[in-house]
Amino acid sequence: MKFNIAVIKGDGIGGEIIDQALKVLNAIGERFGHTFSVASVLMGGCAVDEVGTPLPKETVDICLKSDSVLLGAVGGPKWDVLPSELRPETGLLGLRSAMGLYANIRPAALFAPMRSACPLREDIAEKGLDMVIVRELTGGIYFGKRGRHVSKDGIEAFDTECYSEKEIKRIAKVAFETAMLRKRKLTSVDKANVLESSRLWRDVVHKTAEDYPDIEVCDMLVDNAAMQLIREPSQFDVILASNMFGDILSDEAAMITGSIGLLASASLGDSKCGMFEPIHGSAPDIAGQDIANPVAAILSAAMMLRYSFGLYAEADTIESAVDATLRAGVRTRDIRDANTSKLVGTTEMGDMIRAIAYEI
Ligand code: IPM
Ligand code: MG
Repeated sequence: MKFNIAVIKGDGIGGEIIDQALKVLNAIGERFGHTFSVASVLMGGCAVDEVGTPLPKETVDICLKSDSVLLGAVGGPKWDVLPSELRPETGLLGLRSAMGLYANIRPAALFAPMRSACPLREDIAEKGLDMVIVRELTGGIYFGKRGRHVSKDGIEAFDTECYSEKEIKRIAKVAFETAMLRKRKLTSVDKANVLESSRLWRDVVHKTAEDYPDIEVCDMLVDNAAMQLIREPSQFDVILASNMFGDILSDEAAMITGSIGLLASASLGDSKCGMFEPIHGSAPDIAGQDIANPVAAILSAAMMLRYSFGLYAEADTIESAVDATLRAGVRTRDIRDANTSKLVGTTEMGDMIRAIAYEI
């Protein structure tokens, strides 16, 4: 089969890690008889530098026409001084919105060969950690009205959290469906003791729950959820959260797996065309040194094969190749540990995973 992939390398380490993911995809293509045709497009800081906008129209058009989008990372201190409409992050938010990608799926699990990387106490880590965060991605405070005005106390700035029933319902459904395929346990995170938008969130989640009688649902206030993630992460299966709460909790969840450089994510809407990207950022401090960890980008490509293209065996092959590489003690600097038998750079890590993907 032939698939058209729009590739956004982005800023910082984005290019180096995506090159490794493409290398592995090509190996999978050769092995399973698929053609992955790649169109490279600009977004983020590099787009600001080259064409003066973080999200060129051409990028949106090509992404909308492709079968899927693979993204490295965007942003960096160089562009932090720019006004909001020129920031790389604004490009990313704009693309998510233009593509209608309202559901962000962020799995956070402790990789078996990396158990010792968990920064939590041993008795807590021992119980395991395997959850999926389902984050609402195109609504809430990241998309609400914002601005500044002058008040008697000086400048005042505001951002608005606004959710409609429709927005909550569709993301809740994704979370319930995700839970159906797992341990059937859903924790919905909100701040319903303070926020009206959270009270609507809770009402809609409870209403949606009526269609899923087999799922155990509980509500959890976001501050408590932040604490419970560290106290007893094994209690979580699927976490459903708003855009901002999901953003914050997914970084926390990634960190307790000890392997932010290993985690991938999928952003999905109603069509099969999704966007797949590592959870980590553009890490400008280590860009261009061939030391970044490409595994999250490679696993993002695997998620793309599974979610957008329905290529399950191919996705499994990539994930098994990553697992085998880590089991062999091959590590990039960020995940170096007592089991490290071979310390490698970005390119070599990609080469090793590609070689195993041919054989496994
Ligand atoms: C993420 C990032 C983005 C977000 C930024 C870069 C806008 O933090 O994907 O989690 O907040 O969604
Ligand atoms: Mg984030």
